[in-house]
Order: sequence, then C-alpha cells, then structure tokens
Amino acid sequence: MNAIEIRNLTKSFRGMYAVDHLNMTVPVGAIYGFIGENGSGKSTTEKLICGHLVADSGSIKLFGKPYTDPGVRARIGALIENAGCFPGSSIYQNLMMQAINLGLPDRDAEIRRVLKLVRMEEHAERKFKQCSLGMKQRVGIAMALLGDPALLILDEPINGLDVDGMRLMREILTDIAHSGCTVLIASHILGELEKIATHYGVIRRGRLIAELSAEEMDRRAQVFTALKTADLQGAKAVLSSVFPDVREDADTLRVYNVEDTASLVRLLLQNGHVIQEIRKNAIGLEEYYIELMSEKEA
Ligand SMILES: Nc1ncnc2c1ncn2[C@@H]1O[C@H](COP(=O)(O)OP(=O)(O)O)[C@@H](O)[C@H]1O
Ligand SMILES: [Mg+2]
Repeated sequence: MNAIEIRNLTKSFRGMYAVDHLNMTVPVGAIYGFIGENGSGKSTTEKLICGHLVADSGSIKLFGKPYTDPGVRARIGALIENAGCFPGSSIYQNLMMQAINLGLPDRDAEIRRVLKLVRMEEHAERKFKQCSLGMKQRVGIAMALLGDPALLILDEPINGLDVDGMRLMREILTDIAHSGCTVLIASHILGELEKIATHYGVIRRGRLIAELSAEEMDRRAQVFTALKTADLQGAKAVLSSVFPDVREDADTLRVYNVEDTASLVRLLLQNGHVIQEIRKNAIGLEEYYIELMSEKEA
C-alpha cells in the first residue's frame, strides 16, 4: 500500500503554477526525501496534503483513501513552517495543550513517549522561548508525533542546524521510521537526506521530474577512478587506448568502470606518467541531481 498517492495535482497563485500536474507515490514505511530548490513547490505540496491549502485540481490519496477521510486525517502529523508553540510556556505545557486539543487519552504517557523520541526528556520543563533552534525543531516534531501518526510530514527539518544537530535529527527521523511511521521530508539540500532516505522525489518548477528508491539511486551511481598527473592530456591519450570512458574534470581525469586499478597504474607508469593522486569515487545523489536539473533546463 502507499501512504501517499498524488495524481495530477495542481495549485496556482496569481496565475502561476506553484504545483503543476504533480504525481507522487510514497510507499508505507518510506523515508521519502522530497528534494527541490527554493521555490520549486515543496511546501505548497505539503500544505495541500495537510489540507492547509485547497488544490485547483488533481487527487491526493492517503493510505488508499481520499485525503479528506476523517479516519485518515487523524493519522497525519505535520510540521510545516513553525511549531505554533507558546513561547512563555514550557515544552511539557505546550505538548499538553496540543494533547488536550487532539483529545488524546493517557496524555502524560504520550508526552513522555514523544519527548523520548526527540531526545528531549530532560528538557520538559524548559520554556519554549529558551530553546535553541535545534530544540525548537525537535519540539515541533514532538508536537506532530502526538497521537502516534502513521504519516509524518516535515518541511526542511534539518535546515539551519549545525553538524551535531543534523546528526541528531537524522537519528531521530530514522527512529521514527523504524517505529512504523512513514516520513515525508522536504529539503533543498540533498546531502542532508542521502544517509537516511529510502526513496527520493525530485521536484522542479512544481513538477516531479524524478522518483526513485535509494537502491535505484545506488544502481545509477557510477563508479569511477579519479586521478591527477602532471601531463593530463598525455595520460588521457594513453588511458583512452585501453579504457573506453575517460573524461576530464578540471585538473583530474575520470576513468569509468575500472575493474583492475593495478593495471591502470601500471599502464600509466609504463608510459612515463607519474600519478600524483588517485581515488575511487561514485556519482552520488548530488551529482545525479545536478545532471537531472541541467537535462531538464531546456
Ligand atoms: N501563499 C502564496 N501566495 C503566492 N505565491 C505563493 C504562495 N505560496 C507559495 N507561493 C509561490 O509558489 C512557488 C512555490 O513555493 P513553495 O511551495 O513555498 O516552494 P518551496 O517550499 O519548494 O521553496 C513559489 O514561486 C512561491 O513564491
Ligand atoms: Mg518551502
């Protein structure tokens, strides 16, 4: 089953498409990286799923039901823009107000559960306004997790965090997914999600231009050997006689699909080329994404 199925979704503002006939499929259990530059339509798509905006046309199904289904709506947690917390109240009080608002039973236990998930059990009594950016984001996620949603929708949750904050956020998101919750994460920075996403959707100007699983992404990642020599052109000529795909990239040569690195090194030495630097590399998500973006530029 799919947690989210969007078909031909369209939303325009003042005659301009923010979301343009978008299709998206998020399988149950996925950590879905929803990737696109600023202004590409990520937040608008998420707001449409959450019902904060109404679409011009198209359909949104959540867990096989129309997105307006009350049973389904009760299982969606979202953090888009800010957490909507009272700054002068403690984290615990903010969560309690939301728990009451949602009509949850066993509120204290539920608050403890979500605080533990976002690594904030020790800070329950801290006032919201005294929280760091990273903490505020975690409190926002805790708010969204109240009531144990089946789908969590987040908008740039890693944006602005320092390295430790990012690592912690990745751990938390992975834990949430392991607890059985499908997670949709919008981000304009690919590297943030490369380590945790199970699926990717790439949005550009309101359209989903690529959708693939992390395994498909790995299969696309091409392995190459990058090396530097003093005489790049000479080395390229020598290598091209044996290896079918040799490319120049600034001051390095890329030799694709090298099975036997030793024979490559020997070949260069035999022809008088001293290798200054050599490493194996793979085209990651970032490069794939840049390629994708430039392909669709026309
Ligand atoms: N409420 C709004 N009124 C007018 N234009 C909007 C509104 N919300 C978003 N837009 C426009 O829609 C486009 C997509 O915005 P958004 O969904 O916020 O992109 P992203 O989240 O990917 O940065 C942008 O061009 C933005 O200016
Ligand atoms: Mg946005």
